[in-house]
Amino acid sequence: MGRNVRCLSRLFLNFNKNLLGTNGNSIATYCSRTQAVKSAVTQAELTKTKESVDPASSDILTDTFGRQHTYLRISLSERCNLRCQYCMPEEGVELTTKEKLLSTDEILQLSELFVREGITKIRLTGGEPLVRKDLVNIIGGMNELRSLGLQSIAMTTNGVTLKRKLPDLRKAGLDLLNVSLDTLIPAKFEFITRRKGWDRVMSGIDAAIEHGYNPVKVNCVVMRGVNEEEICDFVALTENKNIDVRFIEYMPFDGNKWNFKKMVPYDEMLKTIREQFSTLHRLNDQPNDTSKAYRVDGFKGQIGFITSMSEHFCGTCNRLRLTADGNLKVCLFGNSEVSLRDTLRNNTPPEDLLQVVSAAVKRKKKQHAGMLNLSKMKNRPMILIGG
Ligand SMILES: C[S@@+](CC[C@H](N)C(=O)[O-])C[C@H]1O[C@@H](n2cnc3c(N)ncnc32)[C@H](O)[C@@H]1O
Ligand code: SF4
Repeated sequence: MGRNVRCLSRLFLNFNKNLLGTNGNSIATYCSRTQAVKSAVTQAELTKTKESVDPASSDILTDTFGRQHTYLRISLSERCNLRCQYCMPEEGVELTTKEKLLSTDEILQLSELFVREGITKIRLTGGEPLVRKDLVNIIGGMNELRSLGLQSIAMTTNGVTLKRKLPDLRKAGLDLLNVSLDTLIPAKFEFITRRKGWDRVMSGIDAAIEHGYNPVKVNCVVMRGVNEEEICDFVALTENKNIDVRFIEYMPFDGNKWNFKKMVPYDEMLKTIREQFSTLHRLNDQPNDTSKAYRVDGFKGQIGFITSMSEHFCGTCNRLRLTADGNLKVCLFGNSEVSLRDTLRNNTPPEDLLQVVSAAVKRKKKQHAGMLNLSKMKNRPMILIGG
């Protein structure tokens, strides 16, 4: 982080210390956008913060391999109105009690803390983020963090109730949208998700296009014997719809009965598509893109592949995750976690909370353990992590 921002962060911390005395300088106070704090920071300082936040240089969020973390994924709920087989164990999951989940305020306090340290993109996920009643307020609160350097507010949703809620979410500041859809056949949707709702997801995707999301990303987990024969139908859908269909390799998590044979690797998907769409060509990827992007000549939309299993992208990983119960997870596939909720609720001084975050980031491993080892490792079920 640039010297100016470091100094300004210190200034914030010292300001709160002076204001409250050494016993009262909780992180909640550091982060709350009270009038007192607001008036202590002049507009010029805020502008300076924005200009001098160099997201690529926060010490706190840089790991021992030099990876700078600018992307935070926050799980808003452990609940979901679907029961996807690859995500939710058949027997369900034990839900955390409400008081142990992060509240609206806590989510916003932690978001502010991370944005001050260089996070520029926040994705809301879950469980299903749309089941959370305070979603519009959460997005609205995050929208205020743009002056501190936040550039994008994204959400991944199953889309079932999206159409109705989208106008308010858009107004509150939601910029980017991923909708999950694994099949174009309604009966198969019911088999995969153990619930009805295909029509509603499709109309959610269309509503998102109408609201100007450009493109709407469609997440499709490809599983052998389930939907791999639909890959080309999904590609065909990009001919006239401005969507970016991302084919995701099936990943192992607790309780999802993953096995190597069920996973369809990237090179196999690509070969299948090339046989039908000979003009498929590679597009340029951005530095931290997890998706390998392609387009068929003349098609409105595009496709991509998320190859976490066959060609991992750990080397350029810039992501951190916050679970709905407030644990920081530095790797999707790592089982080490640290509770920011408890630290926050213990009135821990902000410097110490930042040290907890920093120590977790510094413990991040170079890469995940490899798909076969991952399938034997203990991790949360995906629904309790937040994809
Ligand atoms: C856990 S969901 C949460 C957000 C929302 N409920 C949804 O389904 O979009 C986030 C993403 O993770 C993906 N996902 C879940 N389990 C997976 C697995 N085992 N392998 C690959 N992707 C998975 C889902 O398809 C979805 O796109
Ligand atoms: S993938 Fe999303 S929609 Fe499906 S069960 Fe998991 S959280 Fe729910």
